[in-house]
Amino acid sequence: MRLKLKIRRCDPMKTGACSPFLQAYDVEAEEGMTVLEALISIAETDDPSLSFRRSCRSAICGSCAVTVNGFPKLACNTQIIPEHRKRGQLVLEPLANHRVLKDLIVDMDPFWRKFEKTTPFLIPKEEPEGGWKITGEDQAVIDDSQKCIMCGSCNAACNTLDVDPGFVGPAASAKAWRFVGDVREADGERRLKDLSAEHGVWDCVRCMHCTEYCPKGVDPLKAIEQLRSRAMGAGIVDNHGAKHTLAMAESIKRVGRLDEAAMTFKTLGILRSLGMIPFGLKMEIHGKMPHPIIFPAIEKMEEVKKIYEAVEEKRKKERGGEG
Ligand code: SF4
Ligand code: SF4
Ligand code: FES
Repeated sequence: MRLKLKIRRCDPMKTGACSPFLQAYDVEAEEGMTVLEALISIAETDDPSLSFRRSCRSAICGSCAVTVNGFPKLACNTQIIPEHRKRGQLVLEPLANHRVLKDLIVDMDPFWRKFEKTTPFLIPKEEPEGGWKITGEDQAVIDDSQKCIMCGSCNAACNTLDVDPGFVGPAASAKAWRFVGDVREADGERRLKDLSAEHGVWDCVRCMHCTEYCPKGVDPLKAIEQLRSRAMGAGIVDNHGAKHTLAMAESIKRVGRLDEAAMTFKTLGILRSLGMIPFGLKMEIHGKMPHPIIFPAIEKMEEVKKIYEAVEEKRKKERGGEG
């Protein structure tokens, strides 16, 4: 079966700048053939100038991630016939949110810098007498994050990275959780402080793309949520994200719904909130925000109260019955 593959190409080394263009290739597709096998076949028989990365061919090394029909995927474990059938075409492009070096090869340096910043190694506490005894539960906490093969697919799919290249990103966050969540780690609090700063984990907009497109089931969003929760638990709350979370919890506890005006003041402080007043007025005129002063609680407050009491009770139990 002959299939047409369109590949977004560009060669800044030749032209001085990346002027991408789509090039079409015909491939003799066999059942089970992967995108990577198709690329290798094109490079070997048709066009040796086509550039792409690969190594293990077994979804282990993380080097072959590309955009397949608009979504980040590993070329070596994506089959071309089902992909073509699903979308009626097969378009390969370099990973989004990464600078293109040539054809499907992107600059991974910023990706590695983000890892570097998270201190990607264990800083161990003093070993207890008799050595560490790591339980299955201890291990389960960090299991997912250890599966990362550093392919960059999650960063390519990340909505925050799309607008803020300085954001720590899902891949480095998952790696950070691997150490913060490790019972042997001695420097967790310092890590959490760094990750709670500007461009840190609070900038994630929870679009879930990282978790959806990770080919190894790492769940970077879960790692980010755990990092946020751990940071707040350690009292690291002097940042917009944590303040916003506390304001939201307080608003629901008080009136059973979001009091946007109060939340803005509590999150941004009085001075910065003043600048938001014209925006707030517009929202209110269009019925997008409740009145900032006339703001009754919902009818079923009793039920909300019960939820908060249940959460408090659970927390007490987790802390071993302390108040
Ligand atoms: S959930 Fe957060 S980290 Fe993951 S892709 Fe969306 S914005 Fe990025
Ligand atoms: S978390 Fe998943 S998608 Fe992100 S780099 Fe690791 S393996 Fe790739
Ligand atoms: S070639 Fe190694 S993950 Fe695809």
